[in-house]
Amino acid sequence: MQAVVYLNGERVDYKDAKVSVEDRGFQFGDGLYEVVRVYGGRFFYLDRHLKRLNKGAQEIYLEFDFSLDNLKEICKKAVAEGGFKDASVYIQVTRGAAPRQHHFPEKSSCTWVVIAREVKPHPKDFYENGVKAITVPDERWTRCNIKSVQLIPNCIAKEKAKRAGAYEAIFHRGGIVTEASSSNVFIVKNGKLFTHPANNLILHGITRGVVLEIAGKLGFEVNEEAFSLDKLFDADEVFITGTMTEVMPVVKVDGKIIGDGVPGETTRSIIEEFRKLTLTVDQ
Ligand SMILES: Cc1ncc(COP(=O)(O)O)c(C=O)c1O
Repeated sequence: MQAVVYLNGERVDYKDAKVSVEDRGFQFGDGLYEVVRVYGGRFFYLDRHLKRLNKGAQEIYLEFDFSLDNLKEICKKAVAEGGFKDASVYIQVTRGAAPRQHHFPEKSSCTWVVIAREVKPHPKDFYENGVKAITVPDERWTRCNIKSVQLIPNCIAKEKAKRAGAYEAIFHRGGIVTEASSSNVFIVKNGKLFTHPANNLILHGITRGVVLEIAGKLGFEVNEEAFSLDKLFDADEVFITGTMTEVMPVVKVDGKIIGDGVPGETTRSIIEEFRKLTLTVDQ
């Protein structure tokens, strides 16, 4: 099925969807993005993604020249027009095109794109038996809470994981685990959950937030507390969370077996609750 593309509010053919060579997103990475998941035609917390996008825009002084309501409507239209049931919706907003200079242009209009496409879910095996991860130094800037399109360190990290036959690369800053290249990281130790606090060093993942809610509902103690690589290797369970990753058990890190080497009970119960939400949430 062909992706459905909206560029600056207008439906365009995939092959005709083009932006300027002087777009600041292209030249400076001066833009933001979101990836939203659709299950059975229902949007999974679209409102939370749009809220984060709006917050990111304030952080980088990017003024939208369209309304979030309009953007939301277009996301829904794109999925409906594509006839997609399980889909991803990619949203990107940049400061637009202007002759190249670092400071912001006096006049420019945002470039904003919505791309909806069908999603093939990850193999069931990933969730049932867990995946492998590697660790890499976190070489990103210190404003990782902004979902900027500047993703080179993340791409390099993911490529390293791929070359090592792993699914994900877990970042650490001086031995402290922050998050992963496109997901947040949780560990479970003695029935308690730990994940890095939502500060400037990580993206405040929507899925991370959903998991915190699930953990609370299930009565697990959650500590939003930084933990070391040693704690990661010594954990009973490790899992990662993300819009496309969902809640995925990690059973091996840097070749070392985590816990019993199989997805643990806590992770499995969170996955079960998460699955239930994907069958009902539509907001
Ligand atoms: C660096 C990073 N951390 C965490 C996440 C997970 O965020 P979310 O659950 O909002 O998809 C992502 C998703 O792209 C990410 O790129």
